[in-house]
Amino acid sequence: MTRRQWLFRAISMPALAVAGAALGGIFAQVWLAAGRFSSRHWSDVTAVDSLPEQGTSAFPGQRVALLCRGEDIGALSLECPHLGCLVNAVDQGFFCPCHGSEFASSGKVLSGPASRDLDWLPVRIQNGRVWIQGGTRLDSPLWVKRG
Ligand code: FES
Repeated sequence: MTRRQWLFRAISMPALAVAGAALGGIFAQVWLAAGRFSSRHWSDVTAVDSLPEQGTSAFPGQRVALLCRGEDIGALSLECPHLGCLVNAVDQGFFCPCHGSEFASSGKVLSGPASRDLDWLPVRIQNGRVWIQGGTRLDSPLWVKRG
């Protein structure tokens, strides 16, 4: 092995390993953020009694926000309609940390790159608990009564 070959290997191998690890990490983040693991089954989110009378309660683990309007409860998906990142609940509504889309507290898109509103999800109350159906999108809001 010549000195030039040895030098090339000594520099290129670690660089390839670092690049591969970085690409793998980026791919994993995008894959998770895109919500590829969403399912269509019903899941128990929380007790109805734990929700406020008014306001939004976010449950990032279940990728949903529950909107409370007095006796009515609705469910908005926290998956950004742009590329599927998880949006954050903020004072004014929702904010996507991936590319900066903003949504009103009703889920209406205020600024892109997202080109449509957050999705409404099927919601139901059963035995004092709030259940949502992930992976199913509704065309219009669905409100259910607390009790
Ligand atoms: Fe939300 Fe791009 S994924 S703005």
